Amino acid sequence: MRLDRFISERTEYSRSEIKSIAAKGGIKVNGAPVKKPDTQIDPDRDKVEVLGNELRADKFRYILLNKPDGYISSTDDGDGKTVMELIPPEMRTKNMFPAGRLDKDSLGALLITDDGDLAHRLLSPKKHVSKIYIVKLANPFKSKYIDIFSSGITLSDGYQCLPARVKNVENSEKLAFIELNEGKYHQVKRMFAAVENHVEVLMRVSVGGLILPEKLGFGQCMELLHKDVENLFEPLDFDAFCSDFSAVFSAILINNLL
Ligand code: URA
Repeated sequence: MRLDRFISERTEYSRSEIKSIAAKGGIKVNGAPVKKPDTQIDPDRDKVEVLGNELRADKFRYILLNKPDGYISSTDDGDGKTVMELIPPEMRTKNMFPAGRLDKDSLGALLITDDGDLAHRLLSPKKHVSKIYIVKLANPFKSKYIDIFSSGITLSDGYQCLPARVKNVENSEKLAFIELNEGKYHQVKRMFAAVENHVEVLMRVSVGGLILPEKLGFGQCMELLHKDVENLFEPLDFDAFCSDFSAVFSAILINNLL
């Protein structure tokens, strides 16, 4: 396969951009710069790097973004800055889109991929891929939320939510974790509004069995490996997650508010 075709199928770069990056030594095959874009490569055996990023032969690409405040989860920039702008061109392919939505002011784990089938499975309520969020509430957490949410709370428009788990972060009045198995519009915010509270900050910290890595700062992204993608469909134990990660994520949330 031609090197420029391999790169153009896996990035946002056009053939002419690839030519100019190659001319400047930005493309390496098996560690050595290659200046001729028509060089033949074997995608299964050769290691191709563009500006230091390895491009794998896999058909699809999966990027985990730690979404910052102020970006919309869309490919269409009609309404402002989109999360796609945060993905460097050498990590992006032409058909990528956010698999799921976070509100413009929400933070945290967002998968961006060109694998439509995986995105569909991830979002389907039948697949039970749970998502865990940490929230900062305006008013103190009440223990009665646990039973109200677990029996399926009804929202102001009459929608009855699937049972959800919620738990306050130890030693904190206003921080809580909530686990959902569905993703309706503004769902977490509307669930807390239905118990007369208000979500001030919301951050998604896991998608299925994939936990947002602590080292991934807001606005940063990383390419997922095959095993991470498989992890998306593994169940996560909510109680164990809350005890293992409450210190990490509450510190991240509190530091973000300062
Ligand atoms: N629930 C919300 O209210 N907002 C999000 O961004 C995600 C879940």
